[in-house]
Amino acid sequence: MTTPFRIAIAGLGTVGSGVVKALAARGDDLSHRAGRALQITAMSARDKTRARGFEITGWRDDPLALADSDADVVVELIGGDEGIARSLVERALSNGKHVVTANKALLAKHGLALAKLAEDKGVSLKFEAAAAGGIPIVKVLREDLIAHGVDAVKGILNGTCNYILTEMEASGRSFADVLQEAQAKGYAEADPTLDVGGGDTAHKLCLLASLAFGTAPDLASVAVEGITHITADDIAFASEFGFRIKLLGVARRIGERIDQKVHPAMVRARGPLANVSGAANGVSVDAGEAGSFFFSGRGAGEAPTASAVIADIVEAAAEGDQPSPVFGRSAASLTRLEPADGKAQVTPWYLRFEVLDVPGVLAAIAGHLSEAGVSIESMIQRGRSPGEPVAIVMITHETAQAAVERALKAISASDKVRTRPCMIPMEA
Ligand code: NDP
Ligand code: HSE
Repeated sequence: MTTPFRIAIAGLGTVGSGVVKALAARGDDLSHRAGRALQITAMSARDKTRARGFEITGWRDDPLALADSDADVVVELIGGDEGIARSLVERALSNGKHVVTANKALLAKHGLALAKLAEDKGVSLKFEAAAAGGIPIVKVLREDLIAHGVDAVKGILNGTCNYILTEMEASGRSFADVLQEAQAKGYAEADPTLDVGGGDTAHKLCLLASLAFGTAPDLASVAVEGITHITADDIAFASEFGFRIKLLGVARRIGERIDQKVHPAMVRARGPLANVSGAANGVSVDAGEAGSFFFSGRGAGEAPTASAVIADIVEAAAEGDQPSPVFGRSAASLTRLEPADGKAQVTPWYLRFEVLDVPGVLAAIAGHLSEAGVSIESMIQRGRSPGEPVAIVMITHETAQAAVERALKAISASDKVRTRPCMIPMEA
């Protein structure tokens, strides 16, 4: 009889709890799929006394002790790109244990070194849950859409931001109010500025880019902008124009260069990305001659994330001492592509200015835009409040980002302009 596959779990919060509960509920079927009995042998978290709604097995006060236990796989669900999570993963791999993790921050920063370590030790390092929650996009890019190469990966990769933008549009509630709700539902990171500032999307994007293009994760070259400056007005204007605002991660291969960026974008209300709602994620992949593919589903929260973690545990058990390469190819073959000039890409832009309603302001804005070669397609000024701040919204013709930024820099210098102008690219 084969020996059980012993599982040590570090971190028993939203995701860790989901993993323990799913293993308890469906352990028999999952063991059949793995070809071995799956058995949790050790657990660790910060607070031993916390009620968690399940029985604790093999408690260790120190999560690092899991790396020295008799476990076959260490499941790291603590989080963070350094500290205990990094030490645990490194120690577990060094000790010849498979590792399953949902920690995109860690892999975005140290993915190449950890992949090398896993390879040297002949063990698995799996991270399906780290990008797009329950959507099996890591497996798709690692194993499935490989025949014709991938030209671009684009998607909504952060459930918290998508939940906030969806709820702000549907209910008109404030940003802060909806963020709190997303935290209560277990979608947000321990530090939610990673979500709303775009950092979490950047972590996921550089992992997907790595799988798609055969590059080492390159977080430093991702241009990142979050959603904290998006107002209820922007969302309402977008809806009037037939668009929705989504936080997108976009990675494109352009010849021997790579463009990776995270930013809010206006997507057409009838398109697939606009209809990814709440905490769901959506990812489109342009796979050369094979065509375009779109994947959507729950991107954050207990059950969808646990689903991806469990798939990895079962795969690691089934593969045994024949692990598949971490990023789909040997770590030594992962290349580095120079960043492309992402600001050269042309698109129409939504621009919003908060200005004092006094004579000459509009002419000055139009003048700076014209000087930078930015042509305006349409304009709205809502209401009139002489001497008070009002919003002026403009849609431009297709223009490079660099030109719009040049104009906005000049416009921002005016004392009639009250806040930093908002610029959002629009789907052409
Ligand atoms: P939680 O904050 O809910 O849980 C974190 C767990 O780690 C808790 O059990 C906590 O212990 C434990 N922990 C924290 N610090 C320490 C420490 N120093 N020593 C020991 N244990 C510690 O996080 P999530 O479950 O939401 O996230 C876990 C990982 O999964 C992160 O990498 C996250 O990015 C990733 N992820 C999360 C998703 C989600 O939807 N939540 C989706 C995809 C990935 P205690 O319970 O005692 O406080
Ligand atoms: N904080 C992340 C999100 C969790 O909101 O998408 C899933 O990775």
